[in-house]
Amino acid sequence: MPEQKIIIDTDPGQDDAVAILLALASPDEIEVLGITAVAGNVPLTLTERNARMVCELAGRTDIRVFAGCDRPLGRALVTAEHVHGKSGLYGPTLPEPTMPLQEQHGVDFIVDTLRREPAGSVTLCPLGPLTNIATAMQQAPDIIPRIRQIVLMGGAYFQVGNITPAAEFNIHVDPQAAAIVFGAGAPLVVMPLDVTHKALVTAARNDAFRALGTPVGIAVAQMTEFFERFDKEKYGSEGAPLHDPCVTAWLIRPELFSGRRVNVEIETESELTMGMTVADWWGVTKRAPNALFMGDIDADGFFALLTERLARL
Ligand code: BDR
Ligand code: CA
Repeated sequence: MPEQKIIIDTDPGQDDAVAILLALASPDEIEVLGITAVAGNVPLTLTERNARMVCELAGRTDIRVFAGCDRPLGRALVTAEHVHGKSGLYGPTLPEPTMPLQEQHGVDFIVDTLRREPAGSVTLCPLGPLTNIATAMQQAPDIIPRIRQIVLMGGAYFQVGNITPAAEFNIHVDPQAAAIVFGAGAPLVVMPLDVTHKALVTAARNDAFRALGTPVGIAVAQMTEFFERFDKEKYGSEGAPLHDPCVTAWLIRPELFSGRRVNVEIETESELTMGMTVADWWGVTKRAPNALFMGDIDADGFFALLTERLARL
């Protein structure tokens, strides 16, 4: 029996794709109950399509994929084609998906699943803007105490921002949703840029994916190679950060990460710092901790895990 039942809420995105593949490659630890797509890196019609493509790449046409919200709660959608390509999944040439999109709305799926499964048994794994999760919480507050935990990629403290000087993309796109999720009281584990900027796809790590010689290994190498072009230039580092797989890696090997339980508040007013995650890392306020905010990663261990698991697909 897998230890954790999860819903992946996502806006694929190459790094989202790798996060999904890691989860699907780890059935001993993780059971994926469903995937809900959200607008983020690219519009919803593409993120739901990309999620299905990734399931098909993994040979898992049995995974149910749902389309959720097509725009943030209170703002116009900001996308990131400049990072991920026009489709969101540039790099490999993957066939158009043939597995169907589920008819049910992604938010309804989240609500129904949390109500149906035993309380405290389902983990939510958001890899994009938090619109679907916040909408589910608003529509059905009774689900909040039933959530086992929320493990998300988003925010930053020491690394501050990537889409603006002050904010990380997922939180910036829908800060109102982020404020709802961070204020909900559900157990929260956050993988911010402080961690993901240490998870760099160096040439050697990319070669290891390609050397698997499988369709999955080659596609992952092509995906990471694609967004590296943009990120390496931006950061001047030896490789691009692989953000979202930190979430699914934590479910499998939490000891690869370390962090602190701190208070995190979301900026929702100032245009200048919109979506900033104000993390009380140094404990300078009396605000109660609401998140386990990660700060460090064993990057070699993380890439070893990824390569070993992707080889299973
Ligand atoms: C996050 O933004 C997206 O572009 C990535 O998929 C990741 O979830 C990093 O800021
Ligand atoms: Ca993402």
